[in-house]
Amino acid sequence: KTVNRFVPGLEGVIASETGISFLDTEQEKIIIRGHELIELSHERNYLEVLHLLLEGALPNAEEKEALETKLKGMYNLPDEIYHILKRLPKETHPMDALRTGISCLAGYDQNLEDTSVKANKERAYLMMAKLPALVANSYHILNGKEPIEPRADLSYSANFLYMITGEVPTDTEVKIFDKSLLLYSEHEMPNSTFTARVIASTLSDLYGALTGAVASLKGPLHGGANEAVMYSLREVDSAAGYEQYIMKKLKNKEKVMGFGHRVYMKKMDPRALVMKDALKQLCELKGDDKLLEMCEAGERVMEREIGIYPNLDYYAAPVYWLLNIPIPLYTPIFFGSRAAGLSAHVIEQHANNRLFRPRVQYVGESY
Ligand code: CMC
Repeated sequence: KTVNRFVPGLEGVIASETGISFLDTEQEKIIIRGHELIELSHERNYLEVLHLLLEGALPNAEEKEALETKLKGMYNLPDEIYHILKRLPKETHPMDALRTGISCLAGYDQNLEDTSVKANKERAYLMMAKLPALVANSYHILNGKEPIEPRADLSYSANFLYMITGEVPTDTEVKIFDKSLLLYSEHEMPNSTFTARVIASTLSDLYGALTGAVASLKGPLHGGANEAVMYSLREVDSAAGYEQYIMKKLKNKEKVMGFGHRVYMKKMDPRALVMKDALKQLCELKGDDKLLEMCEAGERVMEREIGIYPNLDYYAAPVYWLLNIPIPLYTPIFFGSRAAGLSAHVIEQHANNRLFRPRVQYVGESY
C-alpha cells in the first residue's frame, strides 16, 4: 500500500512511535520520558538526564554517582585515534574530525552485530565517556596543540569544559555549560535523529548511526546554526549594527541564523529562554551587556519584521562565547550532548525495528 501525498521536508509527518520525547506545542512543553525539559533544566543536571534517556528514569543519588564513576573510567581515547586525528588536514572542520573519530571507535567493538538493548546501552555509555575527549582534543590537534588529558577529579561537565579551554572553570561556568548540554540533549525528531534512526533501521550499528548524525547536525539549517549565529554577531559591534545587519539579510531574502524552527516557527523555542537567562548572568558577571543588547535587538527586529522567534542556538552561541569556547567547537559540543538522545533513539529503533524504506513521487521523463 502507498500513501500518495508528497510532503516536502516531511513536515508534520509522523515518522516513528517513541517513548523518548515529544514537543507538545499546544501545552508548550518539551517532554522527555514523561518529564518536562525546562523543569529538568532548573532541577537536574546533564548526567541525570542522560540516565533518564538511557535507563528510562531519573537516577537516585547512588545511581547518579555510579554513572559518573562509570563514565570517568572510560574517558581515555585509544592512541590510534589520536594518530589518525593528527594525520587529518589542518583545515578539517572539527565536526568532520569528530565524525572520523566516532567512526573509528567502531573498530574497537568486538561485538558489533549485537544490537540488543544491553549491548547498545554499554556502547552509548562508552560513547558518552569518550565524546568530551574526542570533541576537545580533535580541535586541539587540528590547531597543532597537544591533547589535554581528562581530569577525573572534576565533574563530567566541568571536565568537558576544562578539556575545551584548558582552564578549570568556575562553578557558575560549569552550571551554565551543564545547562546548555542538558537543553541540547534530546529534542524529538530533528534531522539528525531521523538520520540516526534511518541508519539504525538497517540494523547497522550505533557508531554508524551516530557518524551519520554528525554529518546531519553539521549543516547550518540544523546544529551548525550556533556557530553561524556567533559569526553573524562578530560581523558587527553594536545593537544598532546588528539590527542593520539583519535588515539587510531580510531585504536580500537570506536566512537569519538562530531564528525559526520547523516545529515552533511562530513561537519562541522554550529552551532559548533558559539560555537567554544564562547570557544575562554571564553579561552581569562580566559587567558588559553588549552581547545581550545585540541579541535582544535581533529578537525585536525579527519579531517586528517577520514574526519569527529565536531558537536555542541563538542564545547558546553568545553563552559559549562568554565561556571562552572557540566558535568551531559550538556544533561539536551540541553533538556531544545530543549523542545522549541519539543513542536512546538508536536503542529504541533496534528494539522495535522496521526498515525505513519510503517511496517517491516520480516527476521524471515519461515512459
Ligand atoms: N530567517 C529569515 N526567514 C526565515 C527564517 C530565518 N531564520 N526562518 C524561516 N524563515 C522564513 C522563510 O524564509 C520562509 O518564508 P517564506 O514562506 O516567505 O518563503 C518561512 O519563514 C518558512 O521557512 P522555511 O525555511 O520554509 O521553514 P522550515 O520549517 O523548512 O525551516 C529552519 C526551519 C530552522 C530550517 C529555518 O527556520 C531556518 O533556516 N532557520 C535558520 C537556521 C537555524 O537557526 N537553524 C537552527 C534550527 S533549531 C535547532 C536545530 O535544529 O539545530
